[in-house]
Amino acid sequence: MSEKIIIAADHGGYTLKEALKPFLAQMGFAVTDVGTASDRAVDYPDFGEKAAGAVSTGLFPLGILICGSGVGMSIVANRFPGVRAALCLDEETARLSRMHNNANILVLAGRKTDPETAFRIVRIWLTTPFEGGRHQRRLDKIREIELKPK
Ligand code: RB5
Repeated sequence: MSEKIIIAADHGGYTLKEALKPFLAQMGFAVTDVGTASDRAVDYPDFGEKAAGAVSTGLFPLGILICGSGVGMSIVANRFPGVRAALCLDEETARLSRMHNNANILVLAGRKTDPETAFRIVRIWLTTPFEGGRHQRRLDKIREIELKPK
């Protein structure tokens, strides 16, 4: 069975989302697209919530979020328990976000990243394993912070 991935974008990420869907399918992923469905202006929290919520509850192991800069979607996604969303503008950050941070949501900038660059980032992100070890200890600390009453 194919690995599942959930994808969402606002209007700033819509075009890149559409370009990524066949690429992800070609990589063997079963893609669930929760919008937006056109380049008409929408609010990124509405779409970020759908995908990050589904990763947070464990419905999907991985997600990709796209807005214009990638910043808004990052802020939304990282409010969800268990979500480690990484805004990646280059291949090195994509690799490190998996190796060191075990990121489970990749955030892309639709207005900064062309499709060819995005394909390279996504391929690296989806194929690089988490290193564990000292990095797991750091993720455990993030989890503790998340669970602390504030
Ligand atoms: C929408 O214009 C833009 O603000 C949004 O796509 C994103 O970049 C927000 O962080």
